[in-house]
Amino acid sequence: MKPSILEADVLKDVKAAKPTLWINPNLDRWKAGDPDRPFSAEDVVDAGANWRRFAPLLARIFPELEVTDGIIESPLTEVPGARRELGYDTPDHGRLLVKADHDLPVAGSIKARGGIYEVFMFAEALARKTGLLTPDEALTALADDRMKSAFSAYTIAVGSTGNLGLSVGIAAKALGFQVVVHMSVDAKPWKVDRLTRIGATVVQHDTDYTSAVEAARDQADSDEKIYFVDDEQSKLLFLGYSAATLRLAAQLEEQEIPVDSDHPLFLYLPCGIGGAPGGITFGAKSIFGDNVHCFFVEPVQSPCALVQLMSRAARTVSVYEFGLTNKTEADGMAVASFSKFLAGTIGPMVSGVLTVNDDDLFRWLYILDECEGMRVEPSGTSGCAGPNVLTNTPMGRNYVSLQGLQGKMKNATHVIWTTGGRFVPDDQYRTFRERGRSIALASV
Ligand SMILES: Cc1ncc(COP(=O)(O)O)c(C=O)c1O
Repeated sequence: MKPSILEADVLKDVKAAKPTLWINPNLDRWKAGDPDRPFSAEDVVDAGANWRRFAPLLARIFPELEVTDGIIESPLTEVPGARRELGYDTPDHGRLLVKADHDLPVAGSIKARGGIYEVFMFAEALARKTGLLTPDEALTALADDRMKSAFSAYTIAVGSTGNLGLSVGIAAKALGFQVVVHMSVDAKPWKVDRLTRIGATVVQHDTDYTSAVEAARDQADSDEKIYFVDDEQSKLLFLGYSAATLRLAAQLEEQEIPVDSDHPLFLYLPCGIGGAPGGITFGAKSIFGDNVHCFFVEPVQSPCALVQLMSRAARTVSVYEFGLTNKTEADGMAVASFSKFLAGTIGPMVSGVLTVNDDDLFRWLYILDECEGMRVEPSGTSGCAGPNVLTNTPMGRNYVSLQGLQGKMKNATHVIWTTGGRFVPDDQYRTFRERGRSIALASV
């Protein structure tokens, strides 16, 4: 793709903390079977198969999964009310759907897909290596008391802004592991409380996410009984997230929604360190190739993917270098430096990065609740920006024309991936909703 003529303007917006869209001039065409890539399409399919293998075990451990036979999944739904309220009720916008990961069972956010997957993969590998699980035993044996007492000699550690900590903590505690979660300063107190209640040790840092992860990594390095879930560079997390796209593809097919060169698919993916949106981007590309267009969404004060990818630097770039604060109510996305591993792996697959301001997150939270009865936390609503930016701004139209999509946008499917919310306590949620309501009413 030709370099975007608007990149200098985007940089001005970034520095001024104004919502913007950066189009990735280094977007590559999808090449199936690229030998330089650390993952293949088969890895995504294998991750899907692993989730299915774990399903009976998950149903045994988490009673809420009995109704779905152990499958952790969210609906893909049309949102007619929100669509009208967001101003997307025109043919120009094509279809609008929400992939409702805000309502994922067990851990209540998209981070369940990576966190639970990695913990269960580790538990299985450990049980096999130590001979606790024999080749002819079913995986459901991992929930036996003898396993729990063996696992209790090991600690699973993680650094998190909150939701990864919750998903790793819930999964690891359920299997009997000790858990230490290093939380960044941004973590919401209710996430800390919930983890403490299930018996995890929470270390609260008064520093940002990057420092919390470093502290967790250092502690794990010093002890071979500590397994560290590395949000910045874990391949297992990445693959756990990526499997979501197999289900997305099946849901689109069930709803007879085509994705092909005449029917582009747009995904709007909230981005923190980049693992969740990165895994999903990779999975989606491996299924839909160039017919899917993946956009990351970040807070105006924490656009770490944007500055990293735009700089094209080999070193890690931080939002602080651009005069930004990394302060946002979107706790899950309060990350100052993007993962280097992800920049190299999925950088060339990301169509662009949008930034959004906090007030809009709350306004969308209110709209999704009022119109669709969806309970989404602020971080999880950011994808709502996508269809408007792609359709109605000069940068968005620039992308549409560079991709040769003019005339096809009425056939497009836009998927807003809502990523967290199910477990936000009522009083906290009411405050969010009230703030969103005031902002929404002030803007009419
Ligand atoms: C609700 C929510 N959405 C999105 C993200 C972003 O995921 P990642 O940090 O893997 O980019 C997070 C991260 O914690 C989150 O909590």
